[in-house]
Amino acid sequence: MTAKPRVFVTRIIPEAGLDLVRRHCEAEIWTEQLPPPYDLLRQKVADCDGLVSLLTDRIDAALLDAAPRLKVVSNYAVGFNNVDVKAATERGVCVGNTPGVLTDATADMAFCLLIGAARRLVEGDRYSRSGQWKTWEPLGHLGQDLVGRTLGVIGMGRIGYALAKRCKGWDMTILYHDVYRSEKAEQDLGARQVDLDTLLRESDFVSVHTDLNEQTRGLFNEQRFKQMKRTAVFINSARGPIVDQKALAEALRSGTIFAAGLDVTDPEPPSPNDPLLQLPNVIVAPHIASATVGTRNAMAEICARNLLAGLSGEPLPAWVNPEVAPKRRR
Ligand code: GLV
Ligand code: GLV
Repeated sequence: MTAKPRVFVTRIIPEAGLDLVRRHCEAEIWTEQLPPPYDLLRQKVADCDGLVSLLTDRIDAALLDAAPRLKVVSNYAVGFNNVDVKAATERGVCVGNTPGVLTDATADMAFCLLIGAARRLVEGDRYSRSGQWKTWEPLGHLGQDLVGRTLGVIGMGRIGYALAKRCKGWDMTILYHDVYRSEKAEQDLGARQVDLDTLLRESDFVSVHTDLNEQTRGLFNEQRFKQMKRTAVFINSARGPIVDQKALAEALRSGTIFAAGLDVTDPEPPSPNDPLLQLPNVIVAPHIASATVGTRNAMAEICARNLLAGLSGEPLPAWVNPEVAPKRRR
């Protein structure tokens, strides 16, 4: 019997995936709440054939160079900006992610932030708890209506489409900005592809669903917020660095836009002194869009299947860099 492949798993993930990993591999699992420090992770992978990483683990060229046997990095997330995919491909290392299974949970969270920020729900909850609630106020706590308004989606991929579909149920007009055309969104939802300037000018809700790359880093800056309506609600459930967070805080403080709902920040967590956290008109969720029992179980299963396929030389079920196939490490 050949020895089981050695793998390192950077956090306890749901049993639905961990069990598969344990059965087929000699697995070391990092059981702390916080991620393994970079230098330690680099040591840990030195004799590993596989790695299960989280979005909080930086998998760069130097780490890959320290892992000469590594065949696969299975990232427990749909986003993979934490992995240097080009460096992995150059070294013959497969990279996997967990798309599809978290689409609905993430779109639900974006929608939850959209309604919650538009209707000032979290602010209202704080108000109730603080003892300030004295009476029913005709002019108090006024938010924004949803029905019949316009949603602008930045990045009409799976999650952007799923949010747009929800908003279509609220009779919203759907605009989108993307490098690709989505015939599906246009046919199913009557969505219209527009340039970014038009989208920002016309949308009541602006929701970000692109991945983080060199084109999208810092995309939402001071000027972009100024282009939006003063009643606009801005939603980000993608990646924090797509937004210039200082500019967002200033736009919220000055009333340049009405409110924001964020599931992601830059950095994560934000510093306790971040001006954003002092503002009433922003909801800051701790990166929990995929955090439902069913979704996290499904992510764990795909993640484990990617890992095992990467180890055995099979195609990965969710393969970020299939172009590595002809030269993957055996
Ligand atoms: C979460 O942010 C993910 O990319 O899965
Ligand atoms: C509000 O509670 C209303 O009855 O209008």
